[in-house]
Amino acid sequence: MLMLKPHFKANAQGHLVIGKIDAVELAERFGTPLYVMDEQRVREKYCRFHKAFADLWPNVLICYALKANSNQAVVKILQSEGTGADVSSENELKIALRAGIPGNQMIFNGNYKTPHELELAITNEVLINIDSFQELEVVGKVASRLGKRARVGFRVNPDVKASTHPYIATGLRESKFGFDVASRQAFEGYKLAARMKNVEVVGIHAHIGSQILDAAPFEEEAEKLMALVTTVKEKLGISISFVDLGGGIGIPYKPDDSELQPEQVAKRVVRTIKRVVEKKGLVKPTLVLEPGRYLVADAGVLLARVGYIKKRQGMPTWVAVDAGMNALIRPALYGAYHHIELANKIRKKNEMLVNVAGPLCESGDFLGKKRKLPKVEQGDLAVIFDVGAYGLAMSSQHTAQLGPAMVLVNGSKVEIVRRRESFEDLTRLDQIPRWLR
Ligand SMILES: Cc1ncc(COP(=O)(O)O)c(C=O)c1O
Repeated sequence: MLMLKPHFKANAQGHLVIGKIDAVELAERFGTPLYVMDEQRVREKYCRFHKAFADLWPNVLICYALKANSNQAVVKILQSEGTGADVSSENELKIALRAGIPGNQMIFNGNYKTPHELELAITNEVLINIDSFQELEVVGKVASRLGKRARVGFRVNPDVKASTHPYIATGLRESKFGFDVASRQAFEGYKLAARMKNVEVVGIHAHIGSQILDAAPFEEEAEKLMALVTTVKEKLGISISFVDLGGGIGIPYKPDDSELQPEQVAKRVVRTIKRVVEKKGLVKPTLVLEPGRYLVADAGVLLARVGYIKKRQGMPTWVAVDAGMNALIRPALYGAYHHIELANKIRKKNEMLVNVAGPLCESGDFLGKKRKLPKVEQGDLAVIFDVGAYGLAMSSQHTAQLGPAMVLVNGSKVEIVRRRESFEDLTRLDQIPRWLR
């Protein structure tokens, strides 16, 4: 048995308990595969994150990155804690608005924003982080057509290396995101925007990557952003009032991973910002952070039923469960590690070497390789930990699998927050052309 994170317990029957509810009962009542989110854990993580920064700096705006988990109940929990939102599509923006997050507490990020999306953002006074010269032009046109001024910042690329998977490292020069700082592209962006009458330049933004477990790259990022804030003030007279460091604080996925404490990051970035602000006589900007994974990842587990067990001589035993890369793509896509246990044997000794596979026709369809589990039997309940971020949000219908349900647990209360997909849901959008009927 592993050391469970503090929001999980084991009961007398040796079952995993989420909130105050037995995971085995949840699976029986709601079926599998089943995502389970723990409301209190999300609240705890948000409060800790917010406090870490707000204790050290007067103006802090935490913008939850909806891409991690845009379920409306999850967004509503965070809204009730007072979060802003980082949105990267029209629909995320609409979900955040529907949850009651005001547009002026939102940041719109991404390298492809359509004129239609920009119109929605400008109308709702969302701060738009411009990703290219052409986007700046489009924003100017849309704002002028609406007779409004768009609040903008620039997504800059500070060339900061953070140790993470290459697909989620976004702060390097070769990345598709943002304006290059080193070649003065970013400065040129500010210069151009300063002359546009329908844009109000208020921000600077970078996001150096995701699942970062070291505070140093965030300090380097803050240093590089503040250098540009200073240049923009001195050369163009523009005061930047939102310094947005993006998201990226990781969580321990493996039992022996160390934790990156938000307090450590806060200490180092605030120290940097404060030093530059005082030395250069700048106005104190609002410090914006866009955490996704940190807030919701470890509040979520995926419960999956063991169906078939296949021995391979001299190799790990294959254990097939009813959730695969359709439900959770991170292992297949990034080789990501998610800890797996048996929820109905949570106290039992892990003695059997297994590969945990999903039900799809792909060799890449696995949730974990070379893992130790207790003696596995048909009907056991596997629990895959830390799936609250980039889990259901990145799921697919590969091999026409139905989307899993998600429930929200709050102490001893539980409700469905995402209905399990039905065959009708799955096929509803297909149409047979007349000549094939
Ligand atoms: C611009 C931006 N902000 C915030 C995030 C959230 O990152 P994380 O979930 O690692 O905190 C991402 C994730 O890719 C992002 O691209």
